[in-house]
Amino acid sequence: MSNRATPPRHIAITGASAGLGRALALAYACPGVVLGLSGRDANRLEASATDCRARGATVVTATVDVRDAAAMQSWLDQFDATHPIDLLIANAGASSTLAHPSEWETRECTTSIVDTNFYGAMHAVLPVVDRMRTRGRGQIALISSIAALRGMAISPAYCASKAALKAWGDSVRPLLARDGIRLSVILPGFIKTAMSDAFPGERKLLWSAEKAAHHIRRGLAARRAEIAFPGLLAFGTRLLPLLPPSIADAILRRLSYVPREGR
Ligand SMILES: NC(=O)c1ccc[n+]([C@@H]2O[C@H](COP(=O)([O-])OP(=O)(O)OC[C@H]3O[C@@H](n4cnc5c(N)ncnc54)[C@H](OP(=O)(O)O)[C@@H]3O)[C@@H](O)[C@H]2O)c1
Repeated sequence: MSNRATPPRHIAITGASAGLGRALALAYACPGVVLGLSGRDANRLEASATDCRARGATVVTATVDVRDAAAMQSWLDQFDATHPIDLLIANAGASSTLAHPSEWETRECTTSIVDTNFYGAMHAVLPVVDRMRTRGRGQIALISSIAALRGMAISPAYCASKAALKAWGDSVRPLLARDGIRLSVILPGFIKTAMSDAFPGERKLLWSAEKAAHHIRRGLAARRAEIAFPGLLAFGTRLLPLLPPSIADAILRRLSYVPREGR
């Protein structure tokens, strides 16, 4: 029997107003597909929706902050009631980076990053899981990051939030599988978006958002539990936790992922 998923028809994507979320929406947009797209910036979200409609998709937009649990529940309940979600992509995310050794992430910054990247994803996934469970089917994609594999001094809160998301996904995957729900954790390396444009270190092996979206789409169609890319960066980063921490830190410093003077 094929392990490939039936192509999803009803797809909800958070953070679809820009970057990877927008590219994912476009990658899935075609006649017969209904997209539920969310983001905070109404104008940019509408621009994504217009481009997806031009490809033949039906699009329903929601201007909602992923940190607002009640608003997320209300949007997803409404969308799912009319278009039972086959695929949910929890993509919305924010980053925080340290450009200089004198900088430090404050409590407010740390809370905001974890609220958006971890709890924001939970606010999308948990309401939908309940509804998928009653149907006995569905697919969930969590957009984490290669930064989940090893903490880096250049972005402490971001790494922690993405590691938490990966750990949660790995934890619940077998529980969801019992109910017919497939879960994939996505670990992208650098993708050319506004987020990575603001990254103060070197962006090794940078992919376009379109290339990343198509790669993710193929991986989700094959129901891969984990989709990490580019392969070389993922392989190298997976080795870091196997090394003594001081050696891993020295490698990360050399690669410009530890803030340094004169950058
Ligand atoms: N770019 C990379 O190199 C890279 C690498 C690994 C992982 N990722 C992950 O990929 C995902 C997409 O990132 P990106 O590079 O496409 O970033 P981006 O260009 O900055 O886009 C971020 C998206 O998330 C939305 N968003 C941010 N905060 C939100 C909030 N509180 N509520 C609702 N929506 C919110 C933004 O929409 P509004 O501004 O309209 O709210 C926007 O649509 C993120 O989870 C990121 O961590 C990116």
